[in-house]
Amino acid sequence: MSEIRVEPYRVRRIGAHSHIRGLGLDENGKAIMVADGLVGQAEARQAAGIVVKMIKEGRISGRGILLVGPPGTGKTALAVAIARELGEDTPFVIMSGSEIYSSEKRKTEILMEAVRKALGVRLTERRLVYEGVVKNIVIRRAKHPLVPYLTVPREAKITLATRDEEVTLTVPEEVTQQIVELGVRKGDVIWIDAQTGRVHREGRVREFQDVKTYDVETRRIVETPSGPVKKEKEIVNVLTLHDLDMYVAAQRSLVSIFGFTLEREIPSEARKQVDETVRKWIEDKKAAIVPGVLFIDDAHMLDIEAFSFLTRAMESEFAPILILATNRGVARIRGTDMESPHGMPLDLLDRLLIIPTRPYNADEIREIIKIRAQEEEVELDSKALEKLVEIGSKYSLRYAVQLMEPARILAEQRGESKIHVEDVEEARKLFIDISTSVEYLREYEKLFLK
Ligand SMILES: Nc1ncnc2c1ncn2[C@@H]1O[C@H](COP(=O)(O)OP(=O)(O)O)[C@@H](O)[C@H]1O
Ligand SMILES: [Mg+2]
Repeated sequence: MSEIRVEPYRVRRIGAHSHIRGLGLDENGKAIMVADGLVGQAEARQAAGIVVKMIKEGRISGRGILLVGPPGTGKTALAVAIARELGEDTPFVIMSGSEIYSSEKRKTEILMEAVRKALGVRLTERRLVYEGVVKNIVIRRAKHPLVPYLTVPREAKITLATRDEEVTLTVPEEVTQQIVELGVRKGDVIWIDAQTGRVHREGRVREFQDVKTYDVETRRIVETPSGPVKKEKEIVNVLTLHDLDMYVAAQRSLVSIFGFTLEREIPSEARKQVDETVRKWIEDKKAAIVPGVLFIDDAHMLDIEAFSFLTRAMESEFAPILILATNRGVARIRGTDMESPHGMPLDLLDRLLIIPTRPYNADEIREIIKIRAQEEEVELDSKALEKLVEIGSKYSLRYAVQLMEPARILAEQRGESKIHVEDVEEARKLFIDISTSVEYLREYEKLFLK
């Protein structure tokens, strides 16, 4: 039987920090030179490890973190590593200070949204589920009602096993669709909500790890469940306060029908209602707040109004962990004519623990470029690598990292898969770094003014 499978078109987006898996610390909290995708910057990583401990032990409230250092020294990378260490259930919101200057929303509204996206609500529920290791799965497909050469999943026969029993279920279309979308296969541990039909994939059992697959295995390894397949299970969901705000606001406005709620400000009564409800859930032990991280890059771009909002937010009952980053020394606080360290008011600075990041040496830059090359799946010959290290030391690490993809395309156009030093040099001529581009315009300004 032939079957046409339509794969959705996916843009392969590799974030600048996708290689970072954690802080790479040893059991004493000291940085391992190259680990978890991070290289060097040992003291800042150790400090960040202490911050993670403070957060996990709930002893950070009222305080925040300020990362200071020149551009390209890994401030954002460190914030991402902190988020990885905190785990996927901890909300992590990343924004730039300049984002508050939007024409659609007030500055404090933008910050309020960011704060509430960084506050998780962990809800615990008991549900009736079918849970087990997928032993067998047969999906019955039918012709698409409109497109004759397409098929759609219609029904599935799935065998779930625990250590003690094995049950075969026939599940309807809605459940089958989720199974297909989640890519559930033999060896996965899943549960299916007996009432709503919601499917959740928990991970994979170890026995199936040995099977050689060529795609990267990203699934969590879990134990085979024991007891009956059909059972009551405590299910934990993490939503954010912002999710709840949106939900309540949508119910209140007709506009949401057309999908425009995102563009509007959330009415403050909606937030009040959410806060009251969550407080009640907490009292009834149905929910707990999970403070997440609000990371604001280029924090010197914020203004006095934003700073006082954030200072107040840090004091409130539900407060996220604030991490700011800047590369400015003494600067004017926006919205005032006062000069202050890092362009921030002193009452906020008083609440921040400051972690400095320092520029990298050539060896560290080499290691970072090697890691990035692997992540972006580009091959560099040794001279090309050294050229990039030189560029990274002389201009900036970010510039060196950014040249890799254009250089790969230039190599491809020469009919080669490996990047040579000429490709790097050509890429560098085509795409200049910031200081060169500023210099270039300055030269022209002189010509124009003559
Ligand atoms: N210590 C490090 N180890 C691995 N990669 C790093 C390290 N420091 C920076 N990078 C990577 O180098 C690039 C520039 O760093 P970034 O964190 O953006 O610097 P900053 O925020 O200080 O300007 C990013 O792709 C980042 O992930
Ligand atoms: Mg940055």
